[in-house]
Amino acid sequence: MYDNWEELEQSIINCQKCKLCKARKNIVFGEGNKQADVMFIGEGPGADEDTQGLPFVGRAGQLMNKAFQGLGIDRKEVYITNIVKCRPPNNRVPEEDEAAACLDYLRNQVLLVKPKIIVLLGSTALKNILGKEYGITASRGKWIEKKDIYYMPTWHPAALLRDENKKIEFWKDLKQVLIKKKELEQIEK
Ligand code: URA
Repeated sequence: MYDNWEELEQSIINCQKCKLCKARKNIVFGEGNKQADVMFIGEGPGADEDTQGLPFVGRAGQLMNKAFQGLGIDRKEVYITNIVKCRPPNNRVPEEDEAAACLDYLRNQVLLVKPKIIVLLGSTALKNILGKEYGITASRGKWIEKKDIYYMPTWHPAALLRDENKKIEFWKDLKQVLIKKKELEQIEK
């Protein structure tokens, strides 16, 4: 583990820990406030993210941005990243070995950002961070506290594109995040 961003970022530049390195255009490391209270973790880059080297800039990301705007969440104030940093071919779910190879980068990001709250976007994020026993349908919208971090599992933004109900639930979950953030700020004062 690195105790600073420079070394961590340097360590990933030529990463070949898994087969996703072969077809990538860009590593999508993460974006946002490196001291954010709230961190968002998705699954892995899609085509647009791979092209731009930034997380959640495609259709799903735009939908997430809309929710952020509606709720008054400043995208620059949070930190956004993914389970895997390179695009899985055809946007398939990252395989176990790929996620495992990449997870140390994410652990290091969490260590450096020190978020109070982590929003887990979809099943891949939930299972890789909290464990395979968790299912997104049963877990979404419910706080899970572990080692002083509050986790909020919710739908992956791509799922919202297909389902209006999930959009409402996603909003609800993000509202809970804002409430918890305020509560935690009050406790600190
Ligand atoms: N889906 C993800 O899980 N992450 C991104 O960055 C974009 C789409």
